[in-house]
Amino acid sequence: MPDAKLNDPTTENARLDRVLSPILAYGARHYGEAITQYAHAVQCARLAQEHGCAPAMIAAALLHDVGQFIDDAGNKAEQDGSDGLHEETGAAFLSPDFGPEVTEPVRLHVGAKRYLCAVEEGYRAGLSTASELSLQLQGGPLAGDAIAAFESEPFFADALLLRRFDDAAKRTDWAVPPLETYRPLLAALLLPAPA
Ligand SMILES: [Fe+2]
Repeated sequence: MPDAKLNDPTTENARLDRVLSPILAYGARHYGEAITQYAHAVQCARLAQEHGCAPAMIAAALLHDVGQFIDDAGNKAEQDGSDGLHEETGAAFLSPDFGPEVTEPVRLHVGAKRYLCAVEEGYRAGLSTASELSLQLQGGPLAGDAIAAFESEPFFADALLLRRFDDAAKRTDWAVPPLETYRPLLAALLLPAPA
């Protein structure tokens, strides 16, 4: 018999509220970038959508920095000079509700930056000031065996793509659809509700 909770809009909305609430609560923060974190999230999702990505990648783009708002990870680089590991925190936060197609690109998006800094000429020079600062705290460009290990990640390609959107989603002159636009897309990706 199907789980009645699966299609219960109350449960579904409560789960989406939990997922979206950190962005709504703390999205006005900048974390050293020119635009707000809210604007960054919706621009990132819009870029994924315009690129023709699957819903899971659009969700990953929208939610990739949610870990910045958990335990104040986003302020760690600027305030304490430490790495808040927001990619790990964010993936863990999302994992009760979304599968690896969403959580893995999120978890790997910092590794993708470190990877691209190692293998792509000119990539590092194009990073924002805040991204360059956090790169150093995150361990700098990947080196040695870590490069091949990253390439063997099952969600390697998606992680790189997400990183491209992440880097581009910092425009001060681009208004895009709001967060709520993505609720139906996110709802369709929800894992079965826990019993
Ligand atoms: Fe980001």
